[in-house]
Amino acid sequence: MPVRSVALAVVVVCCGVIVPSAALAQSNPPPVVGQSLKSPAEFESIGDKAARSRAMFTEIARVLTHPRCMNCHPAGANPQQGSDRHEHLPPVWREDVASGAIGTNCSACHHDENFAVSEATTYKSIPGHPRWGFAPLSMAWQGKSISDICRQIKDVNRNGGRDLKLLQEHIAKDDLVAWGWNPGPGREPAPGSQEAAGKLVQAWIDTGAECPLSPPSINPQ
Ligand code: HEC
Ligand code: HEC
Repeated sequence: MPVRSVALAVVVVCCGVIVPSAALAQSNPPPVVGQSLKSPAEFESIGDKAARSRAMFTEIARVLTHPRCMNCHPAGANPQQGSDRHEHLPPVWREDVASGAIGTNCSACHHDENFAVSEATTYKSIPGHPRWGFAPLSMAWQGKSISDICRQIKDVNRNGGRDLKLLQEHIAKDDLVAWGWNPGPGREPAPGSQEAAGKLVQAWIDTGAECPLSPPSINPQ
């Protein structure tokens, strides 16, 4: 529900970025409609179980490689922004344990909840979540083929020690992953819904959690 309110905005302009503190922005942005996601039933016509599993992962990959997820799973030192996945402005970077460089404090700008901005900027809201931060490098998806991403997210040595059950739970229930479908005004949500993605991941696991064979080049960056 769009709310029209007198904004008691305390706005700090830092480094060209508007950082709101405590204001309810007046906004009436057009809703951004997300893409749909196929259900497991739509893959039933594929008789071969392994082929069905691979096809379902290819559909799941539409979520994983969507900018709402990819922007936080970069391979480099910087997160990305927007549907064109440009480098984060202003520049922020991850902590580099090896060099001792201290990372940027994400929560300085990313608060507990999405924040709609009323000022004229290139974006309509600032993403928010209490645990806003980078996915670790071992979980980087940027620049990888979907078969590589598939093998990586199944690998307990790289995926945070999750077996397939915990991996499914993470995608189906984690509240930071949930942000992908509730990304705030001005951003396209990830395809489908978190529930639909969870069902698809379960069906993929039930058919053997097979990974696509050849690397389709849908993830060129
Ligand atoms: C100085 C303020 C500031 C800091 C610090 C900051 N961000 Fe941001 N971030 C923003 C603003 C403003 C936006 C919205 C811009 C946009 O969407 O174009 C944003 C957007 C993003 C997005 C884009 C989401 C999407 O899907 O488009 C990601 C990802 C992100 N930030 C990650 C991070 C991470 C990780 C950190 C900490 C390492 C961080 N940010 C620190 C200001 C900041
Ligand atoms: C704000 C940044 C951010 C966004 C947005 C984000 N993630 Fe993550 N993701 C993380 C962090 C941090 C971790 C590591 C946390 C952990 O292991 O519990 C992670 C871990 C994961 C993992 C664990 C396994 C692995 O190898 O990566 C999966 C799966 C995952 N995210 C899926 C998603 C999906 C799907 C989306 C989009 C709908 C998404 N993430 C969006 C930050 C993000």
